[in-house]
This record gives sequence, C-alpha cells and structure tokens, in this order.
Amino acid sequence: MHIHRAERIWLVFGVSMLAVFLAVITTAAVVDGFVPPSHVQSIDPTRVSQTPPFDHPGLRKVGPNAYEAYYIARIFAFTPSTIVVPRNAHVTFFVTSADVEHGFSIPETGVNAMVTPGWVSEVSHTFSTPGTLLLICNEYCGSGHQLMAAKVIVR
Ligand code: CUA
Repeated sequence: MHIHRAERIWLVFGVSMLAVFLAVITTAAVVDGFVPPSHVQSIDPTRVSQTPPFDHPGLRKVGPNAYEAYYIARIFAFTPSTIVVPRNAHVTFFVTSADVEHGFSIPETGVNAMVTPGWVSEVSHTFSTPGTLLLICNEYCGSGHQLMAAKVIVR
C-alpha cells in the first residue's frame, strides 16, 4: 500500500515525540535516583554550624500542636541531645550531617531517615503516647556508632 507524503511526516513526527517522551522520563528517573527522596534541600556540610536554621539547632513551636526540630548529626552525637514535646505534638524533623553519613531513627515510631552530608533530611511524626523515646543512629558511621543516640520525651 502506498503511503502518502503527509502520512510519512506524521509517522516521523510520532516516532520523534515518542523518543522525546522516553528521554524525558529516563532523565527524570536518573535525577530522582540521584538522592534519596527524603533529602529535600542542600547545605554546605563544612558550614552547618553557621548555616541558619542549624546555627540554632533545637525545637521550635510553629503552630498549635505543630513543631519543627532542627538536628545536627556528627560523630558520635545528635544536637540537640534531648527534646521535650507535649502529647499529640506533630513534629517535623530536619536533620543534616556535619561529617559522614548517619541515620536518624526512632525505632518505636516510623521515623527513619538517612542523613547524608550536604543534604537536609526531612521526616515527621505525631507523638500520641507519653514516654521517653530513644533516637538512634542506624547507619554505621565509625567506632562510636553504637553510642550515637538522643532522646525524645513526650509528656
Ligand atoms: Cu552516626 Cu552511626
């Protein structure tokens, strides 16, 4: 069957658009894969202590029952070492590393994030049960890794 010139142009156009589409989704997949999805913001890891808001790590109240907690992870401790929140507080944690890769995990909750130097990890949780929760580094980071822990106290 004879293919008209116009049909051939549309065929070439269609194949080209398919190629462009595939290139776009492939690129998007590669960019997404570049950092874990919990890393939303970049930061200079050598200047963490001078970079707001990490120059004043700790807890901030941002609304009724809503808090933000800024943490610096460095071998082998978290700053702040303890936070105290009321029952039913919804806390968004922002965590960055001043040195190597760490973990940020509160095993009794769903809070679990990798902390990569150069990036700010974000994870949030509503603390509905009073008690003292252990916050641990669950990513091997060196000789003091097992000692790297902090506390979240829910009142
Ligand atoms: Cu920090 Cu393991």
